[in-house]
Amino acid sequence: MVLVTGGAGYIGSHTCIALDEAGFDFVVFDNLCNSSQESLKRVEKIINKKIKFIEGDIRSKEDMQKVFTTYKIDSVIHFAGLKAVGESVELPLKYYDNNINGTLVLLDVMKEYKCKKIVFSSSATVYGDPHTTPIKEDFPLSCTNPYGRTKLFIEEILRDVYRADNDFKIVLLRYFNPVGAHESGTIGEDPNGKPNNLMPFIAQTAVGKREFLSVFGDDYDTVDGTGVRDYIHVVDLAQGHVNSLQKIAALDSVLTVNLGTGNGYSVLEMVSAFEKASGKKVAYKIAPRREGDIAACFADPSYAKEVLQWQATKELNEMCEDSWRWQSNNPNGYSS
Ligand code: NAD
Ligand code: WQD
Repeated sequence: MVLVTGGAGYIGSHTCIALDEAGFDFVVFDNLCNSSQESLKRVEKIINKKIKFIEGDIRSKEDMQKVFTTYKIDSVIHFAGLKAVGESVELPLKYYDNNINGTLVLLDVMKEYKCKKIVFSSSATVYGDPHTTPIKEDFPLSCTNPYGRTKLFIEEILRDVYRADNDFKIVLLRYFNPVGAHESGTIGEDPNGKPNNLMPFIAQTAVGKREFLSVFGDDYDTVDGTGVRDYIHVVDLAQGHVNSLQKIAALDSVLTVNLGTGNGYSVLEMVSAFEKASGKKVAYKIAPRREGDIAACFADPSYAKEVLQWQATKELNEMCEDSWRWQSNNPNGYSS
């Protein structure tokens, strides 16, 4: 049985579908602090199966023990965490407590129940401002905000866990910029309030919920002066977790892998691709740079292909079409 912490969230809910398709049995554990059970109800419709769900907090040893005593957990995909960069600057202790303390409790209970396989949601943010692109896994690591530091610290913690006990099988997946939604248009990203990330902001502007997109800076050293990122379809990303689980038992060291497409698109390229996919105008205004942003960030995805036999399959138009289907069918997300 696979334990999916944070499985009611954006990437977790899509991963539940991929796990089911690949024949894995799983249980979702989530405290619903940034999601609702509605996402899982919709996943149940897609996979035509009931989902095992336990509501609880990864920081609670009791909650975690309940999961491990109720089910025989063989491996964990660990999505649960807070992810808003701006909020992490305002409330660093909240992020250190939730993400780091939560992971420590999870690992402690895993040890107690002799479960030693974990796939962890890391982020390209651990590369800080890379000296060059595309980014390879062995690039130097650094972070510009507390959220990013929680990812970097957890990576280090997991590497120490492996050093202390070589029986642990650990995969660190460094996601680039997840976007898109399941093709059904019934599940997708449902940010609370004003979106921080580009794609949901564009989608909400196209659907008329936001007046215009602020483009954060047009004077970067990039194709058109706006920031360049590696946007990856969430369904491709979900599949990366399945491939990781299929390989994890054979690992003899901590596996660290970029999950990206290798293609970089600018903010203005994203706006125009979304307009094309949706048939809607996306009004925008050039605004000052956002603090902490970097000019360009995209992956060298070749290691993922080599070790996981994984590569992104979905192009930018599909990412935009699927985001639009979700946004236009559910203008207010899961509360629509
Ligand atoms: P999300 O907020 O949609 O999902 C995270 C889930 O974890 C939510 O359902 C939330 O309720 C749950 N959760 C948070 N704290 C918890 C706790 N203490 N106990 C139990 N459940 C808890 O976010 P997502 O976009 O699906 O991201 C999943 C993971 O991937 C996160 O760890 C995130 O940091 C990481 N990640 C996300 C991105 C991105 O841009 N979306 C990029 C890189 C890495
Ligand atoms: C993308 C581009 C912005 C919003 C963040 C986290 C990272 C990871 C993914 C979790 C940039 C521009 C954005 C807007 C804009 N999350 N932009 N107007 O900053 O690459 O990464 O999410 O791990 O840790 O830092 O993603 O979507 O916020 O921005 O012009 O309203 O869009 O400047 O160039 P980012 P993003």
